[in-house]
Amino acid sequence: MKSSVLLTLAMGVLCSAHIVITYPGWRGNNLITNSTFPYGMQWMFPCGGMGTSRNRTYWPTTGGAVAFQPGWFRGHETAMLYVNMGFGTDGPDLGPKNMSFPMVPPFQVLGPTNGPYPGTVCLPQVPLPRNMEVQPGDLATIQVVELAVHGAALYSCVDIEFVEPGDRRVPEVNETNCFNTTELGFAEAYTITTREPVYNGINGDPAAVNHDQSGAETLARMSWAGWLPILAGSVWAML
Ligand SMILES: *[C@@H]1O[C@H](CO)[C@@H](O)[C@H](O)[C@H]1NC(C)=O
Ligand SMILES: *[C@@H]1O[C@H](CO)[C@@H](O)[C@H](O)[C@H]1NC(C)=O
Ligand SMILES: *[C@@H]1O[C@H](CO)[C@@H](O)[C@H](O)[C@H]1NC(C)=O
Ligand SMILES: *[C@@H]1O[C@H](CO)[C@@H](O)[C@H](O)[C@H]1NC(C)=O
Ligand SMILES: *[C@@H]1O[C@H](CO)[C@@H](O)[C@H](O)[C@H]1NC(C)=O
Repeated sequence: MKSSVLLTLAMGVLCSAHIVITYPGWRGNNLITNSTFPYGMQWMFPCGGMGTSRNRTYWPTTGGAVAFQPGWFRGHETAMLYVNMGFGTDGPDLGPKNMSFPMVPPFQVLGPTNGPYPGTVCLPQVPLPRNMEVQPGDLATIQVVELAVHGAALYSCVDIEFVEPGDRRVPEVNETNCFNTTELGFAEAYTITTREPVYNGINGDPAAVNHDQSGAETLARMSWAGWLPILAGSVWAML
């Protein structure tokens, strides 16, 4: 039954679709390729070319379910998945300023083939980003990012309004809208450090090379470091 529904869906949109957020909803159909988006709309950061929804859906202040279909296009035999949150409406198009708050560790989906495939992934309890607290009525956006085999990223978003857990406006989560298809596997992602970074900058302060540093400063610093051997070389040549 479930698989026949999926198959029917698959037949309908097989050729055009990439990633579809099936729960709690999405900004709308961005599975479009036309002369404005010659490579396809879903490649556009941050939300696949879709503007902020005026029809927000409701999601619990304690976190909740997110479900999506990752395999609607070629190139996702394996796919890295990221689920992020952006807060508020101070950004472009009354959306968030950024989507910089990860909600789950990135994970990999193992698909049956590199061609398009049907199938649904359900994360039944996605928590709020770490250290974030929200109140009923706060507005936010959930972003699902899918990296294809070749590393390019597809984006899809859903705009939400937070409500108390159990609020009847939260769409029901059940086995028809939130389940893992058996054909899909999952892998946890690890990295292995092969070389620790060495901080030997101008003042040798590791804290100076951190995320808060502006790109320009980092660049200036990097080019300084790059020039040092050359400068040293010319001093030696002058001696
Ligand atoms: C909001 O409206 C758009 C356009 O009609 C629709 O595609 C989308 O599914 C709706 N989103 C929600 C969360 O209801
Ligand atoms: C391409 O599709 C988008 C989304 O529907 C639309 O906003 C845009 O105007 C379209 N471009 C052309 C050239 O039709
Ligand atoms: C990202 O968004 C958060 C929440 O809206 C905001 O507090 C923060 O300043 C933003 N960061 C940047 C770099 O704009
Ligand atoms: C599952 O929940 C959806 C609403 O999110 C509802 O439309 C659907 O009828 C429910 N299915 C079952 C089997 O209860
Ligand atoms: C689906 O699989 C993911 C990854 O293993 C897991 O976190 C999630 O709980 C599963 N969903 C359901 C409904 O079992």
